[in-house]
Amino acid sequence: MTHETQPTLAVVGSTMIDLVAYAEVLPEDGETLLGEKFQMGFGGKGANQAVMAKLMGAEVAMVNCLGDDDYAQMYRKNFADYGINTDHVYTAPGASGVAPIWVDGQGHNRIIIIPGANHALTAQQATAAIEALAPLQVVIGQFEIPQEVTAAGFAAAQKFEATTVLNPAPASALCPALLAVTDWLIPNEHEFALLAGSEPSDTALLSFATQTATRLLVTLGEAGVALAVDGEVIRLPTTRVEAIDTTGAGDAFVGAFAYGLAAGLAPVAAAQLGMDRATDSVTKLGTQSSYAPLSPR
Ligand code: RIB
Repeated sequence: MTHETQPTLAVVGSTMIDLVAYAEVLPEDGETLLGEKFQMGFGGKGANQAVMAKLMGAEVAMVNCLGDDDYAQMYRKNFADYGINTDHVYTAPGASGVAPIWVDGQGHNRIIIIPGANHALTAQQATAAIEALAPLQVVIGQFEIPQEVTAAGFAAAQKFEATTVLNPAPASALCPALLAVTDWLIPNEHEFALLAGSEPSDTALLSFATQTATRLLVTLGEAGVALAVDGEVIRLPTTRVEAIDTTGAGDAFVGAFAYGLAAGLAPVAAAQLGMDRATDSVTKLGTQSSYAPLSPR
């Protein structure tokens, strides 16, 4: 059944200013190469997911910490332009998060994140924010802020019966306290390999979903997605397109999928929404700049 009112969703997560260099071939150690173009944009896995959920039609609040630099002011304006609630976007002394990114001629990326103020968000702030924003249908988290902070936000969310969605990116071990308050776990195949220690075969998916007591969805790039839910594996293929920049495609998926869940869609229908938005995003440059303001199907 779908919700008749606007779905409400919060992201406890990161903001980064993306500094993206595009070059046909990326440099080797000690090499200098001529690139094609440079683009500065708004990124961070958390903020990207928040923007996509907002573009899909959700009411979205961001829970985050920015620095006290010019990037922070730019980011606040960006959130305001999208109509994202920033009542719980705090300020800490020092630099905001930045992400130098290299994208090659095939659209593949390499990213370094410098978290800066993202790591100043506290568990107390995350808890208070979610309590103030409740009721919410869905709360999303990632690994670009400390896991104990996300765990605090998720614990508060579950008290109000919100569904928690964890995108364990960038790849890292998952702390038990955060896993305990995670309903949906959405790694890509590399993150799944690190967490589960295996390829995403049907057996491995079912076993990891049981072991973690989560609803599991693994994104597989051009191979689509695999869901392990209620003892069954469902694989959904994706549409092939010519990719020019894959940066932020995973976040487009998570934001649109979470919107779908918040809107009351079944997981497979929500995953299809996510794949549509992720596929569209890889045909355009940048992260948030590649997200088209489309309505859900
Ligand atoms: O997933 C893409 C994002 O990862 C980029 O926007 C960058 O900021 C890093 O967080």
